[in-house]
Amino acid sequence: MDFTSRLLQWYKNNRRELPWRETRDPYKIWLSEIILQQTRIAQGMSYYHKFLEWFPDVHSLAQATEDKVLGAWQGLGYYSRARNLHHTARIIANEHNGVFPADYKSLLQLKGIGAYTAAAIASIAFGLPKAAVDGNVTRVIARYFGIEEPVDDTAIKKNIEETAAALLDPRQPGNFNQAMMDFGALVCKPGKPDCHICPFAEDCVALSEGMTQKIPLKAKKVKQKQRFFHFFLFYWPEKEPEFLFIEKRKGNDIWKNLYQLPLIETSGPLFEWQQFDTHPVLSKILSQQMSLSIKGTPEKYSHQLTHQRIEAFFYKILLPPEYYSIFEKDFAKRRFGDFAHMGKPVLITRFLERNKFILP
Ligand code: ADE
Repeated sequence: MDFTSRLLQWYKNNRRELPWRETRDPYKIWLSEIILQQTRIAQGMSYYHKFLEWFPDVHSLAQATEDKVLGAWQGLGYYSRARNLHHTARIIANEHNGVFPADYKSLLQLKGIGAYTAAAIASIAFGLPKAAVDGNVTRVIARYFGIEEPVDDTAIKKNIEETAAALLDPRQPGNFNQAMMDFGALVCKPGKPDCHICPFAEDCVALSEGMTQKIPLKAKKVKQKQRFFHFFLFYWPEKEPEFLFIEKRKGNDIWKNLYQLPLIETSGPLFEWQQFDTHPVLSKILSQQMSLSIKGTPEKYSHQLTHQRIEAFFYKILLPPEYYSIFEKDFAKRRFGDFAHMGKPVLITRFLERNKFILP
């Protein structure tokens, strides 16, 4: 049996039962693919159901406010996915009469849909013969064919894409792509592949050459930037606080349009009070000469993004209610329970949950 028949046979017996595999509705398939771009199935599942409950079709998603969509996404991370999802829903509702474009090139025009996602939607929803090549698929092909060159090299990448296209079964492209995804996730795993149960064990080049741990090889080291964030939680009283003050992130940076505690970013881990001056609102407050006292030492949390490592420090500051009016001018005052439902960085959720300010 050739590779493709053996893969599809394996898929028939081992495929994961997933809700988006029981539909051809492009809206649902698109939603599942966006969620799964940077999230594991186990974590993404509840969000898939919640989105379909809140926004059952592309029109309801298009009509929602961005705050509502970001709130529904909160906890999943990589929020540009949610912003693009919302933007694209509006394009489809307003410019395509609510009908999903049914070809690869038009799908690729939509925000948040790259080559992989366009191929996944084209093949799964529309039965088009397009191979979807992500990290899982790359690993399977690189190991099976014993590709020892870096898989992030442009020419090698192209070679792997062409190989995937040649292997694809044009009669069932959606099944082929999802079989590759499942096989990469369940058997040909990144760390320790389960070669003893692998249907390709006899002709896998990486296995026969003892190279499964080395392949796939990567050449480029992603440059990491380290950033230091200082967040301030102003509240009163110490036990059972009612309100907190938040701001909306602006500009072209991570977490755009999410809500956060007032933030000062510094170039190193240390924070000095003079640096309050760098915050447009907090500097005004400091000039009021109010005496603010920090409770305890700041709590430190780390958060790894694709190209950035965020070191965050949280300072708890008791703010007597007579100062609320000054803060309310420039910050949004919210009840803790209401903030729980607003889109915010995962770091902030972790801090508030740990401190029992918001119950999960
Ligand atoms: N990862 C991305 N898309 C997927 C899908 N349709 N099935 C399983 N895993 C996936």
